Amino acid sequence: MKALVLAGGSGTRLRPITYTSAKQLVPLANKPILFFGLEAIAATGIREVGIVVGDTHEAIRAAVGDGSRFGLDVTYLRQEAPLGLAHAVLVARDFLGDEPFVMYLGDNLVVGGIEAFVREFETERPDALVLLTRVAHPEQFGVAELGPEGELVRLVEKPANPPSDLALVGVYLFDRHVHEAVRSITPSGRGELEITDAIQWLVDQGRVVRPHLLTTPWIDTGKLQDLLEANRIVLEAMERDVRGAVDDASRIEGKVLVEEGAKVVRSTVRGPAAIGRDAVVEDSYVGPFSSIAAHCEVIGSELEHSVLLEGARIEGMRRITDSLIGRGARVAHSDARPVSYRLMIGDHSDVAVP
Ligand code: G1P
Repeated sequence: MKALVLAGGSGTRLRPITYTSAKQLVPLANKPILFFGLEAIAATGIREVGIVVGDTHEAIRAAVGDGSRFGLDVTYLRQEAPLGLAHAVLVARDFLGDEPFVMYLGDNLVVGGIEAFVREFETERPDALVLLTRVAHPEQFGVAELGPEGELVRLVEKPANPPSDLALVGVYLFDRHVHEAVRSITPSGRGELEITDAIQWLVDQGRVVRPHLLTTPWIDTGKLQDLLEANRIVLEAMERDVRGAVDDASRIEGKVLVEEGAKVVRSTVRGPAAIGRDAVVEDSYVGPFSSIAAHCEVIGSELEHSVLLEGARIEGMRRITDSLIGRGARVAHSDARPVSYRLMIGDHSDVAVP
């Protein structure tokens, strides 16, 4: 079996972060989302992985390399434009050949990995296996309708009136029949070749498409709230590991990761939280569910339930919560007159002030 990992797309729901970096590289507990997927694939014993990349291909290549650090052999496949998940399968035709494969969306987090589904697919040998999970807002996903025997009857992409609350998870297993399916469908209303339509085509052709109801948490990290939730889950599963320097005036409570070269000075860090390499936390409070990336500075501030990307600097701020702060961004208190908000924020940014 091979794996096809999708790491293209434009990430419109995470702008402006995705103007300058790939959504799959946003870190959870300071590790790129994409790495969790690659590790899950490696754990199944699959070695050959094709990563479909788009405009952000350089960043993805720089982060993943040849895949050897994951025990994988990675081939990069260029998708010239984000024309849909089924289009990515078209692009990967030569790489995949006629082998069965698992397709994994690089911004999805599947807690507990995917090994069980890969084994189920190998044993049962359906033409496709899809993972489903109950969600509060099915209209934001591909949605499945099951028949009385639990069989798959119909799949619809982001329906206005969802036939059920069963969303399609971004992990799919296919045999070679999917190649004919992706060649047979036409673009959807959003101008993309939808994998949902390709699977519906398989169902219509009488192919065996096996649904599997997921019981462990799954998150599509494409939006801020979901990303923060994924960060929460990953931090909670982490062990305490303090390698950086913590002075006597500081308190480290609970599951906290302080990486090498990081400094915690006159501060309280209440886990679960992660503080990256060479980051500085000084005269501050870092509360639960915070991920502070390498080279960040948090000075005289209070921060909670937030993700700071590499080199961000927070100074004199009380208090920041539920936030995602971009690389090298600076948020600081100022006493300058007139008293006012002074902002220089990127296109499509989102700021909430009390
Ligand atoms: C895609 C699929 C959708 C699926 C979702 C899972 O949506 O089209 O069917 O439920 O991934 O993450 P997109 O993220 O492209 O909007």
